[in-house]
Amino acid sequence: MTEAAKKKLHVKTWGCQMNVYDSERMAEAMAAQGYEATEDAGEADLILLNTCHIREKAAEKVYSELGRLKPLKARNPDLKIGVAGCVAQAEGAEIVARQPLVDLVVGPQAYHRLPDLVARSDRGAAVDTDMPPEDKFDHLPVARTPAKRPTAFLTVQEGCDKFCAFCVVPYTRGAEVSRPAARLVAEAEALVARGVKEITLLGQNVNAYHGDGPDGGTWSLADLIRRLHAVEGLARIRYTTSHPNDFTDDLIAAHGDLPKLMPYLHLPVQAGSDRVLKAMNRKHTAAEYVELIGRIRAARPDLLLSGDFIVGFPGETEAEFEDTLRLVEAVGYGQAYSFKYSARPGTPAAEKEGVGPEVASERLARLQALLGAQQRAAQEAAVGRETTVLFEKVGRLPGQLVGKTEHLQACHVEAPADLMGRVAKVRIVEAAANSLKGELA
Ligand code: 5AD
Ligand code: SF4
Repeated sequence: MTEAAKKKLHVKTWGCQMNVYDSERMAEAMAAQGYEATEDAGEADLILLNTCHIREKAAEKVYSELGRLKPLKARNPDLKIGVAGCVAQAEGAEIVARQPLVDLVVGPQAYHRLPDLVARSDRGAAVDTDMPPEDKFDHLPVARTPAKRPTAFLTVQEGCDKFCAFCVVPYTRGAEVSRPAARLVAEAEALVARGVKEITLLGQNVNAYHGDGPDGGTWSLADLIRRLHAVEGLARIRYTTSHPNDFTDDLIAAHGDLPKLMPYLHLPVQAGSDRVLKAMNRKHTAAEYVELIGRIRAARPDLLLSGDFIVGFPGETEAEFEDTLRLVEAVGYGQAYSFKYSARPGTPAAEKEGVGPEVASERLARLQALLGAQQRAAQEAAVGRETTVLFEKVGRLPGQLVGKTEHLQACHVEAPADLMGRVAKVRIVEAAANSLKGELA
């Protein structure tokens, strides 16, 4: 295919890191069909919206975005618009009924059939939300070109069998499936060969990973991390997101033993009241979570902890909300995400009465004030310390590079351009709420 004949693909991504990974895989699949990526939706021949269904607000965004794309379609009748991701999975053909300008709908487990769907959409809207038992990634091409960034995601596990009462993930992403370890090692080695220095292992329940091992046994996440630790040229390993109930002793030990495993952990607890945790079907208590954090910190004392919280779950009383504040105070987070409960169609909690928007907003503000103060304290605590930074992009100021510390904090450093994509020792000299300033050590 000549350069002039190349078609253009624009992908817009919402939601979690798994969607980011999937969007890259979809772009690679379409590149094999002669599509070139573009940042400009206006010049695209194919626009893919990779959507998120986790909360109502996120799910509605796709329809406002589709409305905005209307004039583009009017200008270019050959333009194809596709909806991918979790809204696609949850709503399927309803999306086309609600917004007829959509040409194709593809669920997260059907991405390997995307090129086929694009071709089929010539003859009317094409919808594929099947969840076939095969691994979509086996059928998606793996890129060999130099990586654009020194950090990469690698999906090792997908889906969730936990069925927290508020969550759509078990319905949109399906049952838990782990990819075979040998494939993941090969994919990690290919990423490192392309210049990647840091890999974040992804899964909705990543620490529940139990993939076929090359030795015929079943590998845990800790087994996989130990194997990846031996990959030469790989400098850093992270993983997200974990569930407290799958946190095994071998994973705790890995945090103590493996220097490439970064001292950062995202371990959602959602709430601090045992009654609410039970109603959420979390299957652990607040005390069990706090005790677990203690054991992980014993293995890795400099761990920076991140979490997810939901306020205003149906029936949450003021006293129960205060239990969440108390848990946050007891644990101490360096970073966190907090949300107002959003009723999701089809989930058990959606049947129950919420606490009302005012109460939820007021609780969220109080929780965020506390989490914000803890984050600022963690940022301040970094000042004077030596850490490493992996440089990912140029800064706004000339001569500046920006990267992430071991604790995943953004860090600006005056550094020579050839450090781009590399890890350097840095001393932190200044802290702001969301970034640090460092000097090469
Ligand atoms: N309402 C609010 N927050 C939710 N999350 C998941 N489902 C909901 C919901 N229905 C949050 C949880 C989860 C994070 C990814 O999103 O905190 O850990
Ligand atoms: Fe959703 Fe709970 Fe599964 Fe996380 S563990 S994806 S919150 S059901």
